[in-house]
Amino acid sequence: MGPTTRLVHGARRPDYNAGAVVPPIYQTSTFHWPADRSEASEKGRAYLYTRIENPTLELPAEIVRQLEGGEAARLFGSGMGAITACVLSLLKSGDEVVALEGLYGGTTDLLTDLLPRYGVRVREVGASEAREPEKVVSDATRLVVVESPTNPLLEVHDLARWSETADRVGAVLLVDNTFATPINQNPIALGADLVVHSATKYLGGHSDLLAGVVVGAERLVERVDAKGYFGASVDPFAAYLLGRGLKTLALRVARQNENGRRVAESVRDHPAVRRVHYPGWASAEEESIAARQMRGRSGMVSLSLRGGAATAERFLSRLRFVHVAASLGGVESLASVPGLTSHRHLPADELARRGIDAGLVRLSLGIEDTEDLVRDVTEALDAVR
Ligand SMILES: Cc1ncc(COP(=O)(O)O)c(C=O)c1O
Repeated sequence: MGPTTRLVHGARRPDYNAGAVVPPIYQTSTFHWPADRSEASEKGRAYLYTRIENPTLELPAEIVRQLEGGEAARLFGSGMGAITACVLSLLKSGDEVVALEGLYGGTTDLLTDLLPRYGVRVREVGASEAREPEKVVSDATRLVVVESPTNPLLEVHDLARWSETADRVGAVLLVDNTFATPINQNPIALGADLVVHSATKYLGGHSDLLAGVVVGAERLVERVDAKGYFGASVDPFAAYLLGRGLKTLALRVARQNENGRRVAESVRDHPAVRRVHYPGWASAEEESIAARQMRGRSGMVSLSLRGGAATAERFLSRLRFVHVAASLGGVESLASVPGLTSHRHLPADELARRGIDAGLVRLSLGIEDTEDLVRDVTEALDAVR
């Protein structure tokens, strides 16, 4: 089965009432739980309570499990819900977490603000240090958190090398695969123990739901909020929308990969652009890692504009098809200024140290016609040069 066939048919079930091709939404908080348990088993699987389980949640979880090649998968109410559940389930006082500096801002906040209060040490690793993971992981490291490509500079990190390093000290490697999607990259095949997604982004694909997913070995996924203690459960309607969106994931991502590449190439030498950030473009080493571990490079492109914040603001105001909004991965193209959105919590000197300058605009290219997007971005750049 190819990925698109898997997306459409991979979790089809014969057991739904009325033989509906599209399964119904079980929009219920609870289920009949007969006192006589033999009655429940005669009717098939018994469900207890939607915070813990619901048939509508199973289909999208199963599809993502198959795509990522994990033993088990579980849905959450948001990407942050999924990440929080992983972190709080897997760590205890005295443990150390090693985390890339280039993680989603919400994840960085969670790790650096919350965990030290519970006696967990967090070691943030900058882009150049991260080239040699062996030097930053210690025997106390119990969890390693990595994203590749990173946000918003789209740096590429060697997931197989991180996996070997984490294994050597017995730490769990958690990879946030939101930007790459399982169409472009499968961290479990490269040795990751757990993969998380903000399913709000490419997996849902229509900017109309919030959800998260955790995939990995059964023993680990079971440990991650198996009983719904954290309460980060997804609503059945959002899970239904996710299952609907997933059917077109491979088609959407193929177009988004193409749109990302074409926009990146067409603005690379534009006089208003100081630097284009695109997965694999930072160095020959990153290009060879990307070629090894990614099938497509995603629809993400960040532009560092000459002239800083004022130019960025004028550029955004000139865009016609590209909406100015946080988030990514939807059918519609979006543009945001990371220093004002995902990384707004960082002080100016820290933003500068990380290479997130005031003129940095992150683009998430959607599925619009390529020529329209190239024209829109180029004309907006022409207007600010
Ligand atoms: C890479 C990445 N991981 C996690 C998250 C958090 O996901 P959510 O917004 O679904 O909680 C985001 C959200 O922007 C993200 O970009």
